[in-house]
Amino acid sequence: MQDALNAQLNMELYSAYAYASMAAHFEHENLNGFSHWMQLQTAEETAHAQKFYQYINDAGGRVVLAAIDKPPAKFEGPVEVFQEVLEHEQLVTKSIYKLVDLANKESDHGTNSFLQWFVTEQIEEEAVADNILQRIKLVAKSPEGLFMMDQDLASRTSEASPE
Ligand code: FEO
Repeated sequence: MQDALNAQLNMELYSAYAYASMAAHFEHENLNGFSHWMQLQTAEETAHAQKFYQYINDAGGRVVLAAIDKPPAKFEGPVEVFQEVLEHEQLVTKSIYKLVDLANKESDHGTNSFLQWFVTEQIEEEAVADNILQRIKLVAKSPEGLFMMDQDLASRTSEASPE
């Protein structure tokens, strides 16, 4: 179980890294609202990693940090980026579900209880990514629409507040 939790810690750090790379892309494209949203998403993923770090320690385990994969650096438009966000979050959800399955198999009720926060969180993560993706698709071909979307995403105020 400990190895699987350490692997998830690494996946959360990779998520933070991937969203930081997307933030840098949007910054370069002068889409500052999109970049702001991605920077808060980066902070949220770092907080997720911290939760795993804390839990592994609290449970008497040993945190072992591994190399973080290189995230993509080249992206197309906002539609493609948010498609990647959605697909990545779907992967994270699958990974969390596998952890829950393993905790159940090992009758590890403490870890199961800890993981339930992430089960709920992933429903929100996927819903938010899909919502933004669908809205960008509606406006992607219009510069005015993209400008409005950028302003909308600039209003996200904390990592706990998805939009
Ligand atoms: Fe930590 Fe976006 O899942």
